[in-house]
Amino acid sequence: MKVVNVGLIGAGTVGCGVIEVLRKNRDIIEKRTGIRLNLKRIADIDPDRKRPVKIPGGKLTRDARELLEDGSIQIIIELVGGTGIAKDFVLGAIRNGKHVVTANKALLAHHGREIFGAAAEKGVDIGFEASVGGGIPIIKATQESFAANNILSIHGIINGTSNYILSRMTEEGSEFAEVLKEAQNEGYAEADPSFDVDGIDAAHKLSILIMLSFGIFISFGKIHAEGIRGITPLDIAYADELGHKIKLLAVAKSKENGLEAGVYPALVRKETQLADVSGAFNAIYLVGDAVGPAMLYGKGAGMMPTASAVVSDVLQIAKDLSLGNTHSSPPRFYGGEGSTQLIKMSDTTNKYYLRFQAEDRPGVLGKITGSLGKHGISIESVIQKGRHLGGGDVPVVIMTHEALEKNLLSSLREIDRFSTIRAKTTFIRIEDI
Ligand code: HSE
Repeated sequence: MKVVNVGLIGAGTVGCGVIEVLRKNRDIIEKRTGIRLNLKRIADIDPDRKRPVKIPGGKLTRDARELLEDGSIQIIIELVGGTGIAKDFVLGAIRNGKHVVTANKALLAHHGREIFGAAAEKGVDIGFEASVGGGIPIIKATQESFAANNILSIHGIINGTSNYILSRMTEEGSEFAEVLKEAQNEGYAEADPSFDVDGIDAAHKLSILIMLSFGIFISFGKIHAEGIRGITPLDIAYADELGHKIKLLAVAKSKENGLEAGVYPALVRKETQLADVSGAFNAIYLVGDAVGPAMLYGKGAGMMPTASAVVSDVLQIAKDLSLGNTHSSPPRFYGGEGSTQLIKMSDTTNKYYLRFQAEDRPGVLGKITGSLGKHGISIESVIQKGRHLGGGDVPVVIMTHEALEKNLLSSLREIDRFSTIRAKTTFIRIEDI
């Protein structure tokens, strides 16, 4: 049996998952592939920390360089995370002619071009299935299974923490802050939740999906990332009344003049499959010009689901090695300079959900619709309830037809200056999937 030596840098949650999958499923992996993966060395900054798995004595070191310099190790798994030392480990491994498997979406979103370039030059592979959607095989799907398509659009629920929080807010009618606190206590959200709830983690993952689907590398700061802190139970309830759910979506849409892309909360119709993706689950709904619509669904995080993706990459590389394929297949950037392809958010067109907090007086609705009309924004539906928000104010909820975002923003700037409008207007995009 072909034996391939592997080095693991980072024995945290996912690292322990990798150790466990390789232990528990060793037989089936060997029967299926004819390959024995030998986890030769493991590096971790804290060898003594309490772990859910046993690490055989003698394998563990504090010094990742020992793995990078070990000539018998052909594949390095990087599970350190972040864009600091992890970048040195990945580039160091590539320089030493080793293939790399990583789950590090932040690293690829920020430095993907450099890392993939270095890998191509050295003729080594980078596996990154675990970087988007945890155990869901979306990287393989976009790189291989959908390779015959022009990708028309992607709508992803790719941050489990935000989806969990929004699902609970929807089920319980609770406020964001309350659910966040509970999610932190239950281990669904980090002590510092910003990456997840401010849309940054989803934007890292979206930039990877854009590289693979559209062949462009967009420098990370240019991707619009908006989170869920501003979502209220009131908006969730109105969305529900209008037949929609609110989800944090990572969106990329191919348009004639470029790519519309961003992460933002959006209304999706209740009867769509994405609306049914609840709790910490992830899903990616994609439309290709040949395949049509397709959706992948599963666990987007966690020790074992993420390890499943990491080990599948290791096996793919090991299979290539055993067949003598010395190829490198990093993503190709065929789509030109990313920033010129990306349509500014203000130039995108969307449908919108608007909630005005208005004084309950005759003529207020007329003034609002007058401004929207003057800015070329057509209305699809309106609800005004007697439900008071306090101080004699009432919510007025409007859904618009497709409108240019900059026209909407100018109209809202005008409306928010009316003396009868009592708070900044809420607007949430609507995604017609
Ligand atoms: N923090 C991520 C999430 C999981 O909540 O989906 C890791 O990508």
